[in-house]
Amino acid sequence: MSLAYEEKPDFMASGSVRVRVPAKINLHLGVGPLRADGYHDLATVYQAISLYDDVHAHRSDTLALTIDGEGAGSLPLDDDNLAVRAVKALAAHTGLPAHARLHITKNIPVAGGLAGGSADCAATLVACDALWGTGLSRDELATIAATLGSDIPFLVLGGTALGTGRGEQVNPVLAAGTWHWVVGVAAGGLSTPAVYREIDRLRELGTAPDPAGSPDPLLAALRQPDPEVLAAVLANDLQAAAVSLRPQLRTTLHAGIDEGALAALVSGSGPTCLFLARDAEHANTLAASLAGRGVCRTVRTAHGPVSGARVTA
Ligand code: C5P
Repeated sequence: MSLAYEEKPDFMASGSVRVRVPAKINLHLGVGPLRADGYHDLATVYQAISLYDDVHAHRSDTLALTIDGEGAGSLPLDDDNLAVRAVKALAAHTGLPAHARLHITKNIPVAGGLAGGSADCAATLVACDALWGTGLSRDELATIAATLGSDIPFLVLGGTALGTGRGEQVNPVLAAGTWHWVVGVAAGGLSTPAVYREIDRLRELGTAPDPAGSPDPLLAALRQPDPEVLAAVLANDLQAAAVSLRPQLRTTLHAGIDEGALAALVSGSGPTCLFLARDAEHANTLAASLAGRGVCRTVRTAHGPVSGARVTA
């Protein structure tokens, strides 16, 4: 597809697009064996939660990226940044020049198991599609997203979804409630490949816990609104690996249960920890108690599900 800017006067007029994108958590993360391509087969249930990054894309005749907010100083601004790769991938797909000036305002912790980098990538695809007037469908954007990272298609979609393959094949699932989370952000990140390598090592040693198995009980728990029912079936195969690499996470998880969380689990590959609350008020009191325990760098509250990357202005 090749559309000249001149064919899209609406986008000429505004010259900039803002996209808001959520963080993701995994309510169920079942990790299969290591595949020949270096990935693992997954059966995961994603949920988008109300911690957001914002991507502001401006018309430009070059490609430039600036970032402010949470962890901004530690992030690359070149091709190592997934947002830059998103611009180039969309340009290659549409035949347009890879031109945009991007500014990302980060709230999602970096390397925290919340897919912050993937979120910025999904937001950039949606932003440049609007800015350039290429009008791709969500499915087309998700197809490009899958070439850039395993959880990026989910962040284009949002809501609650089952992820299969290496996580890139996503299908929405029914979620009959809103769930309230306390998000315990650790100091420092964990490398996702290192956490996957650690689960392989623990499995080889025979010391990994039983695998999470089928996501069906979790999917059933999502069809009703009681958080206690959901709490009983949350599962993450990467938790043992994250705790093995960062033993103090065990203290954080126990602190949340001591303070009255319905459940505590590591988010994705960690080190962020998630605590399920009964409702919004309980999430606020739980967050305050956890902050007082000093086991996290920052404590936030969030609810889910929320929508995926969306143009806001
Ligand atoms: O797909 P993405 O680039 O986000 O994955 C980052 C890394 O996480 C991969 O290089 C791989 O080491 C690991 N991974 C995996 N199996 C998956 C998804 C990710 O082993 N299904």
